[in-house]
Amino acid sequence: MTSSDDIPPRPSRRGFLAGAAGGLAAAVSGAAQAATATPPPAVPAAPADTEPFWGAHQAGIVTPQQSHCYFTAFDLTAKKRDEVVSLLQRWTAASARMTAGLTATALDLDPAQPATDSGEALGLKAARLTLTFGFGPGLFEKDGHDRYGLAARRPTALVDLPRFNGDQLQPERTGGDIAVQACADDPQIAFHAVRQLARLAYEAADIRWAQAGFVSEPGKQTPRNLMGFKDGTGNPDVDDPKATTKLIWSDDEGPDWMRGGSYLVARRIRIALEHWDRMKLAFQEQTIGRHKYSGAPLGLKDEYAPLNLEATDKDGNPVIPENAHVRLAAAATNDGAQLLRRGYSYNDGVNFTAERWPPWRQGMEYDAGLFFLAYQRDPRAAFIKIFERMSKFDMLNQFVTHTGGGIFACPGGAAEGEFVGQRLFQSV
Ligand code: HEM
Repeated sequence: MTSSDDIPPRPSRRGFLAGAAGGLAAAVSGAAQAATATPPPAVPAAPADTEPFWGAHQAGIVTPQQSHCYFTAFDLTAKKRDEVVSLLQRWTAASARMTAGLTATALDLDPAQPATDSGEALGLKAARLTLTFGFGPGLFEKDGHDRYGLAARRPTALVDLPRFNGDQLQPERTGGDIAVQACADDPQIAFHAVRQLARLAYEAADIRWAQAGFVSEPGKQTPRNLMGFKDGTGNPDVDDPKATTKLIWSDDEGPDWMRGGSYLVARRIRIALEHWDRMKLAFQEQTIGRHKYSGAPLGLKDEYAPLNLEATDKDGNPVIPENAHVRLAAAATNDGAQLLRRGYSYNDGVNFTAERWPPWRQGMEYDAGLFFLAYQRDPRAAFIKIFERMSKFDMLNQFVTHTGGGIFACPGGAAEGEFVGQRLFQSV
């Protein structure tokens, strides 16, 4: 058996193909034991292509957004707590390797064995891959059973999300015991990472649902969502430690294992793009409360100008309408509630759809929209607080339908040598 554990980073594609061809020839000649696949040459990964995996916080939360996301929620099938621990150990080891640009596990070139890595990332860079893990309510208790002896350790902030006005959540796209958010500047790298983790989860966890998403050129400008509006302008400043401490990272109000962690609310939100595209520009801008092209608040020119919620026009009407999205979302109208949005557009082809709003169009429509991902210190004081009112009054509601999602407690980051979530299991 040839192991390339010591090959940093991923072997080049050419080297892998050479090895694969050698292995095939050996298998064909029936001389598998004689396979002489040589470890392929190393390709040094530029540090700029990698994001650190170890640390006080998990990567993928305040990390500058990558262009692609592959999000997967798993149902645990493990019977015992030790099996969950072992899964998290395997996942942590593989994640540390893949985020550093390596294969998930040491590449085993034994032609008589299935490959230890599916191979589609060979020769590619790490593409700033981050893997972020979150624990759903089902890890702590499922159908009334304390499966892993963790029920008493469920954080009070990890509530079951209430049913919101207009929710059309599909069970097959909702919930999950453990979520993995894979983000990278290359969709193949993000998918590859989840695919390896899913393989390593055999016998311990099954995929429940998954969602791929994209944004264009994050970091260069505020990305535009599929409605054509800049999305992310009003986010808290993640470079300001005061803001991240206050709004994103859990501290001593929760269990020890959540310190430095954050709560994720995911929502798959379909947008009726055909309906939206028939709206006048002025109406679209009133719906959002910002100008479409500049991204500035209505009545202003600068994208980053603060929202002036008091401004009125010559007739005394608010410049930003009462039920505009940004007014209902703003901290100023939500007792200071704020969250960090890190969403991705999604595009899943077309489906036969009956719209819920006039003109009640029926036909093949895009299944496309926003895969909303938001991190916060406490969902009760952030997502739930904001969305409770928004789901009833937002003008945007006539164009959007929430079709899936979940809530997950993302533990603090792991130090090298630990596994993700270790403190949760240790302190039981
Ligand atoms: C498909 C659904 C949605 C779309 C298309 C959308 C789009 C937008 C846009 C264009 C902005 C203005 C630019 C910006 O500040 O980023 C915005 C702001 C915002 N949205 Fe959404 N959004 C959606 C769903 C939600 C949901 C479900 C929440 C839940 C709480 C939310 C919370 C916010 C917040 C907090 C702001 C910033 C408001 C401020 O200026 O303080 N959005 N959104």
